[in-house]
Amino acid sequence: MQIADVQEQIDHELVSSQQIERKIRQVAAQVSHDYQGRRPLLVAVLKGAVNTLVALSQAMTIDAQIDFMSLSSYGSGSSSSGRITVRQDLSTDVKGRNVLIVEDIIDSGYTLDWTVRELKRRGAASVEVFALLEKPARRKVEVPVKYKGFEVPDEFVVGFGLDYDERFRNLDSIAVLKPEVYEGSLV
Ligand code: IMP
Ligand code: MG
Repeated sequence: MQIADVQEQIDHELVSSQQIERKIRQVAAQVSHDYQGRRPLLVAVLKGAVNTLVALSQAMTIDAQIDFMSLSSYGSGSSSSGRITVRQDLSTDVKGRNVLIVEDIIDSGYTLDWTVRELKRRGAASVEVFALLEKPARRKVEVPVKYKGFEVPDEFVVGFGLDYDERFRNLDSIAVLKPEVYEGSLV
């Protein structure tokens, strides 16, 4: 789905599909080089990171294993907190593996911080991070991000896996919705 298909609900585009594609190609080349001979395990946190994981893995030039985990974080309102539980776990034992966590967006950083520490606790040989988007203004915990995509302003964004109320995940670019959408008058 493209911006034109949901034009009425979109305020403006932040990152185009071409920009995303180009960036992911660059990161894939770097990752392929860095993990040569090590068959990395790419881990996506469901559901937002799925698009990025698929695009990254397909642009890589070395074999990689993929896996998924689903987390829920209990916080006040829309912001996440440090309390996180596993809703659906990985099917892979990460012990001794070189893990690359693929994230859609780092907001407070709580989710990622927890995930990195958990995979290290399980004995991963290395844990690195690729985040397609970062919202630096909202960061609460610092997590080292080795592979970076784009920085976005402190606005709620959708597309390329990111949703608002489970919508707009299949948009091929990153965009900001019109305020009316959140207010429920433009559904
Ligand atoms: P954190 O734990 O606060 O860093 O939350 C990260 C998660 O919150 C991301 O993986 C997204 O699922 C979700 N999230 C944060 N900001 C946005 C946004 O602007 N649009 C859609 N989802 C978001
Ligand atoms: Mg997410």
